[in-house]
Amino acid sequence: MIQRPSNNPKGVLIYGVGNVGQTVARIVAGYGWPVIAVNRAGGKVGQDLGALTGTRALDGCLIREAEETDLSSVFADVAVLAINDRLAHNLPYHRRLMEAGYNLICVGAESSYPKAVDPKQAEELNAIAKANGVTVTGGGLWDTYRNWTLRTLIGPCTGLRSLYHSSLTNADRFGAEVAGMVNIGKDPATVDDAQTGRSIYRIFLVQVVESLRLTITSLNEHQKPVKSDEVMHSRALGRDIQPGLCVGMRTVISIETAEGISATAEIDLRLAADGEAEGLKWQIDGEPQAEMVLSGIDTGHATASSVVNRIPYVLAAPAGLITTDQMPPMLPAKSF
Ligand SMILES: NC(=O)c1ccc[n+]([C@@H]2O[C@H](COP(=O)([O-])OP(=O)(O)OC[C@H]3O[C@@H](n4cnc5c(N)ncnc54)[C@H](OP(=O)(O)O)[C@@H]3O)[C@@H](O)[C@H]2O)c1
Repeated sequence: MIQRPSNNPKGVLIYGVGNVGQTVARIVAGYGWPVIAVNRAGGKVGQDLGALTGTRALDGCLIREAEETDLSSVFADVAVLAINDRLAHNLPYHRRLMEAGYNLICVGAESSYPKAVDPKQAEELNAIAKANGVTVTGGGLWDTYRNWTLRTLIGPCTGLRSLYHSSLTNADRFGAEVAGMVNIGKDPATVDDAQTGRSIYRIFLVQVVESLRLTITSLNEHQKPVKSDEVMHSRALGRDIQPGLCVGMRTVISIETAEGISATAEIDLRLAADGEAEGLKWQIDGEPQAEMVLSGIDTGHATASSVVNRIPYVLAAPAGLITTDQMPPMLPAKSF
């Protein structure tokens, strides 16, 4: 029987107590692992995490101001960084946490596979981690649901022509950070590829394709705003979004490889309509053909639980930048 590593953390430092950070806190507390939480200066600092998250096990855990906290004095060996998706933005925080001795799981999407964002920054992360004897990785929704589902499905294949992936994630499962990134509430005319920048999703498709040991020869990406015909509510922004305004983004990515195998992904991160289920699909054109549809996933919980259940694997991994495709597929961190 496959077993998960038995390493449990001494404590988990949550850096950024937004939607993801709070769900991570609830799950970690439920596992009985100590929690320490820090956030940037503002209204959350000084609040009781128990009251904020409605979790009795967190009563008395006060949120500290991140910059003022002496991280080396905190009794935790793992940090979860949940503030921003971009690698360049997160890098100073990665450095600070690893230099203070933390193993690190970053929820920021680009940390899932840094070498596809910037090989130099990936090497820098690897060097900082090794110098401090810790492991750094990126975790979240696409660890199991995008990456490992495909790698499991492809096991029986004897031939492969193309991969197709699509997904819908309800942006309102997350906070203002995500709402801003996918331009919710903006005029679609002001949102184009140039203004939006590189999508976070190309990273995952590159990670999947390279983990199959295919050689990428071209990558094309296009993002477009998704509009609604009716009024939709954004919980993250605390207001209604009027018809015609942007409710999120659709990203289309296509990859060609030297082996002649193509990969395409159409990914929606936007407000979902009432009753519209989140989920994802993989289609394999090969021998055998295969299609996998996962629906009804609560992507908010799944993001946080994917991060927490990776903690034992991070503690068991060697020092350095170790991405989740280099780890075994994840099992729950606690027995049921
Ligand atoms: N990998 C995945 O599968 C996945 C899935 C979903 C989301 N994410 C990413 O996870 C991140 C968090 O999402 P979320 O929904 O939790 O966002 P959120 O609700 O906006 O929370 C972000 C939190 O980080 C705090 N923060 C921001 N900058 C900080 C800094 N420099 N130092 C300390 N704290 C800081 C914010 O403080 P304030 O209270 O002052 O705003 C807020 O509490 C986002 O980047 C998101 O895109 C990843």
